[in-house]
Amino acid sequence: MPDLPDTRPRRTFAVISHPDAGKSTLTEALALHAEVISRAGATHGKAGRKGTVSDWMDMEQARGISITSAALQFAYGDHVINLVDTPGHADFSEDTYRVLSAVDSAVMLVDAAKGLEPQTLKLFRVCAQRGLPVITVINKWDRPGLDPFALMDEIEQRIGLRPTPLTWPVGIAGDFRGVLDRRTGRYIRYTRTAGGATRAPEEHLEPDAAAAAEGQDWHEAVEGDELLSADGADHDLAAYRAGRTTPVLFASALSNFGVSTLLDLLVDIAPAPAPTPTIDGGERAVDDDFSAYVFKVQSGMDASHRDRLAYVRVCSGVFERGMVATHGTTGRPFATKYAQAVFGRERVVVDRAMPGDVVGLVNASALLVGDTIYAGRPVRYPPITSFAPEHFAAASVTDTQRWKQFRRGISQLDEEGVVQVLRSPARGDHNPILAAVGPMQFEVVVARMEAEFGAAVRLEQLGYTVARRVEPEQADEVRGIRGAEVLERRDGTLLALFPDVWRVRSALRAAPHLQLHPLPASG
Ligand code: G4P
Repeated sequence: MPDLPDTRPRRTFAVISHPDAGKSTLTEALALHAEVISRAGATHGKAGRKGTVSDWMDMEQARGISITSAALQFAYGDHVINLVDTPGHADFSEDTYRVLSAVDSAVMLVDAAKGLEPQTLKLFRVCAQRGLPVITVINKWDRPGLDPFALMDEIEQRIGLRPTPLTWPVGIAGDFRGVLDRRTGRYIRYTRTAGGATRAPEEHLEPDAAAAAEGQDWHEAVEGDELLSADGADHDLAAYRAGRTTPVLFASALSNFGVSTLLDLLVDIAPAPAPTPTIDGGERAVDDDFSAYVFKVQSGMDASHRDRLAYVRVCSGVFERGMVATHGTTGRPFATKYAQAVFGRERVVVDRAMPGDVVGLVNASALLVGDTIYAGRPVRYPPITSFAPEHFAAASVTDTQRWKQFRRGISQLDEEGVVQVLRSPARGDHNPILAAVGPMQFEVVVARMEAEFGAAVRLEQLGYTVARRVEPEQADEVRGIRGAEVLERRDGTLLALFPDVWRVRSALRAAPHLQLHPLPASG
């Protein structure tokens, strides 16, 4: 594999979808259409699937899901595209949210038969919070599905974005022969290839030829196009970039239909890396000195590389391997000798990276999620939002002889962001509370504590479901509320845990001066 390349313009995006909507299939189809440059830890978690490469954890294999995530990089024409992978399982949403801080736009993949599903909705909300523009792809149009207008209506009603289809299907779901390209008025006709294993040939026909070839189906598509225009559902770049509309494409990732249209659209309309907001309220221009921030830390990738990898997104300047950067949090120099792109067990040295690219820094034990590194002019980026945990468990070591390993392991998993660790003087270091967005994060803790740190842990599920941020001067008063507990997160934030929202409201009724701030919601 060649090194990360050149200075071609970047498009950095993530696919958000509900499990089974076809994200892995689409990823493979995109790679098929482009020249793959490097696969930085991209994982396709379906067991047995060609290209399944991430098996760093037995659990991941056993469940057939992808827990890790990084980026797949490919060249498309005169652009370089970074597809930052998001874990598919609903319980890994916290990880997924962090990934969404490393991209400039998102593609929302919707199953034509199922419409908007819960995980898609949750992820969409995060995109909306982050102001990420969203392109919608209606997938699996080769199978029976919903009426296209019903799908458009669902998008508008449930997420409040105006759908502006750029293609409109010719033929109903299940009978997918091509699409009307609403920008040119032409018919894009697809030809099926065996198993979708190669690029599907496309023909572009003028309307007359399309009418002759498709008869009634073409006329219905033209009618659909006219109805959409009459309704004002035409693409508008400014409205898409502002998050008011979502351009829509119809596709079949499995047959490779509509995939090149998606790539063209990303190049055409998706935003390029923009200046990054800094912690002091300013911004860092893309062509300023080098800077990057850490959006994911991962260790124990596989038995032969028991090391720690920090994934950074380059925000400004050019990353050159070997450059000495400064770690924003400590002010210490940080050597970048070991910059790599990782794809499962395969690792490739990265020599150069541009804004929008993702680089894995090996053995970067000082780097934590949310940290900034820079060269030249100093800069700090704001920390990545922690989402509101909804599951809580008290952890303890089963064999007290292994107490040191327990303490080290819990701290490391906390720093990596595998779970949030909450501590209080009352519980001490022996019995911290682990807080998660999804309960499967606990299973990762148990598996990794035993396998990597040799410390089997016992988890006791707690009856809390709500966490609220507490002002330090009110902490003692909140501690006095029956059923509540106040603990400290690694970043110093004080959190009060409550069994349910009702208890929060009742505490506020009894003491209206208390401030119990909601945390960013995960859905
Ligand atoms: P995910 O990563 O979003 O979880 O979904 P994935 O790509 O694994 O796709 C889920 C299932 O949907 C797979 O079938 C896949 O082949 C199928 N699929 C994806 N895109 C399309 C499409 O455009 N049309 C049709 N008809 N099917 C599609 P599976 O039976 O679960 O797995 P497999 O045995 O085919 O690998």
